Amino acid sequence: MKHLIKTTDLTKDEIEYILKTARNHLEKTPPHSLKEKTIVTIFFENSTRTLSSFEIAIKRLGGSVVRLDVAKSSTAKGESISDTAANLNAMKPDAIIIRHKNAGAGEHLSKYVTCPIINGGDGAHAHPTQAILDLFTIKNHFKGNIEGKKIAIIGDIKNSRVANSNIELLTRYGMNITLVAPPHFLPQTSLKTTSDLKSVIDEMDILMSLRTQSERHNSQVYGSLRDYAHNFCITKELIKNKQDIIILHPGPVHRNIDIEDEVLKDKRCKVLEQVTNGVAVRMAIMEHLIL
Ligand code: NCD
Repeated sequence: MKHLIKTTDLTKDEIEYILKTARNHLEKTPPHSLKEKTIVTIFFENSTRTLSSFEIAIKRLGGSVVRLDVAKSSTAKGESISDTAANLNAMKPDAIIIRHKNAGAGEHLSKYVTCPIINGGDGAHAHPTQAILDLFTIKNHFKGNIEGKKIAIIGDIKNSRVANSNIELLTRYGMNITLVAPPHFLPQTSLKTTSDLKSVIDEMDILMSLRTQSERHNSQVYGSLRDYAHNFCITKELIKNKQDIIILHPGPVHRNIDIEDEVLKDKRCKVLEQVTNGVAVRMAIMEHLIL
């Protein structure tokens, strides 16, 4: 039995298998491979894409989903999340998908259950399924040929689980990563860093923009989002000479702060393609872990 807490829980062979299966699911009607399987989703943090994407993926594969309404669960009455997980596990689900504001929540729960735990995001630590769907989207665009491709990850990298998981996974695939952010949003890193997006744009193949994770800031460490946007927003002007670049964002997008409206409508922007791919990739991940 296998959990997916972070991208390193999967070998490159496993990831390749997941990407291949996801491609099949995009191209053909998916099989009802999760028929008679019951999967529990527990999201202690807000989510639009990840929660609905997992639940749609389960249903497309013929499985059943039970969503624990966190506000009405006994966690709200003081039950620990490990007790909640042990009790859910006693009902014999086939997997539990969890999102939590604390880094390490999924790892912690994995000790109390006998089914796979899938991490839908834990604090600023990891968001493995997002990184795999980002990899899928990049590979798809470059027809598999991504080694040495240059990607700028832009924004609140220090507080971003999406950045963390992508840095691990894309490095493993031989991509060349530059972190672009104001100093207070940069983590300790051995990767290339800059605060000057304009100075690196010419050499980039991919831009991955990230939202300012204000819910994880103890105090506001920047002037205003408008000031931030002045230097880090992806504008039409910024990419005017870059016809082959692609733009990614995990969502939710802060419009005109992370990415300009005009760019969101541009064919180089793959944000909605990422969402479509997310369903197929999550189908493949669940089949890999559950069957
Ligand atoms: C991200 C998340 O929740 O980590 N969104 C997502 O899952 N698609 C990124 C974010 O909230 O900024």
